[in-house]
Amino acid sequence: RRRPRFRMAVRSSAVPVDSILTKLKHECATPLPVLRRVADAMAADMRAGLAVDGGSDLKMILSYVDSLPTGNEKGLFYALDLGGTNFRVLRVQLGGKEERVIDTEFEQVSIPQDLMFGTSEELFDFIASRLATFAQKEGGKFHLPPGRKKEIGFTFSFPVRQTSIDSGILIKWTKGFAVSGTAGRDVVACLNDAMERQGLDMRVSALVNDTVGTLAGARYWDDDVMVAVILGTGTNACYIERKDSIPKLQGHVSASGRTIINTEWGAFSNGLPLTVFDREMDAASINPGEQIFEKTISGMYLGEIVRRVLLKMAEDGALFGSSIPEKLSMPFVLRTPDLSAMQQDNSDDLQAVGSVLYDIAGVESNLNARKIVVEVCDTIAKRGGRLAGAGIVGILQKMEEDSKGLIFGKRTVVAMDGGLYERYPQYRRYLKDAVTELLGLEMSKNVVIEHSKDGSGIGAALLAAANSKYEHSF
Ligand code: GLC
Repeated sequence: RRRPRFRMAVRSSAVPVDSILTKLKHECATPLPVLRRVADAMAADMRAGLAVDGGSDLKMILSYVDSLPTGNEKGLFYALDLGGTNFRVLRVQLGGKEERVIDTEFEQVSIPQDLMFGTSEELFDFIASRLATFAQKEGGKFHLPPGRKKEIGFTFSFPVRQTSIDSGILIKWTKGFAVSGTAGRDVVACLNDAMERQGLDMRVSALVNDTVGTLAGARYWDDDVMVAVILGTGTNACYIERKDSIPKLQGHVSASGRTIINTEWGAFSNGLPLTVFDREMDAASINPGEQIFEKTISGMYLGEIVRRVLLKMAEDGALFGSSIPEKLSMPFVLRTPDLSAMQQDNSDDLQAVGSVLYDIAGVESNLNARKIVVEVCDTIAKRGGRLAGAGIVGILQKMEEDSKGLIFGKRTVVAMDGGLYERYPQYRRYLKDAVTELLGLEMSKNVVIEHSKDGSGIGAALLAAANSKYEHSF
């Protein structure tokens, strides 16, 4: 191992580590009244966003998905998923009510870092070329009747102002993407242009957010699914809304029936317990002032918040002795999976915590320092998980207010996906605790949070099938 590099701790205004920790815990605390305030604010912001466009932090985007999967969907469909660090392509052969999913195949590619900061054409060319390679390898149980174009459900997990089920304009990038030339353009047109450059003849039949894909995918198996939440790199939620509760529709679309609303709750910001570390991280981010809820609860940011706290403790309180490991000054060196790994260490000497700190941040730590590090991780994960739980209750609350008894009076499923939820057990537990605290034990029994792993791919394919331009009879 290379020896880590250090600089001297600045200790002129030495503040003990303990008092930094106490203050942090105090500022991040989420007792019941705070959770309630957040849930109420979420419900109120949802209403304001449904009333008029721009009415609140929550965009409450119309998905143009008015009918949910029925199980009757048949045929070969593709799904394309761009939303975070990975990009995925999938094909699925749907067999209708009896056979359901006959076969699926998928490929996952990580998005090269430079493409996240490049031009729109570069990004979409990359996607189209991977799709072309994948689409060529069709065989086995997959069957497309002659003369038909391959149809795609495109999951694009960024805020998009949908203009129809198969078109929509990127409002802005989130989650660290800073691709130039896409905002303000129709992302389906961007993909079509790139496919044309590749000589690839496929048709996008549905453009969906990952939450919407997850909801559709989960609903295919379970009629009680009403909400879908993503807790991964970013975070967001969508739910099934009655059209007569959406004033901003103003007769654009027939006002009867139901539709899926993409809340874009990552942009929520009311009443959140924030600290100086959050504010500094936000100020240094590529989208300052935006996505505050996302920056407080999602996977891209939890590690970075903890890093900032530890750096402060090292600088002002000599947490790791008299010198400060230089790597600890590097934004985003500490990642959320590292926090989870450290929190799974049950050994007496916190050996695994020590290794993570050494390997990731070049930090030598004694037992006392390791204990403090775990407490910091726990404080940030706890705040995130509990606030996510409050957000979910806020959505359910809004739905319940409009349809008395139809939500809390019966089994209601929240389909959940994302690596943060999946791979951070403490976070998951804190989220569930908050839901139970807010709803009470009895009522919370009706709310089932179900992990719907990778449901958005199948969901997007199902929505492509439902919006296929061909007959469904083959
Ligand atoms: C970000 C995107 C949103 C997406 C979420 C989860 O918040 O803006 O569209 O659903 O991340 O991937």
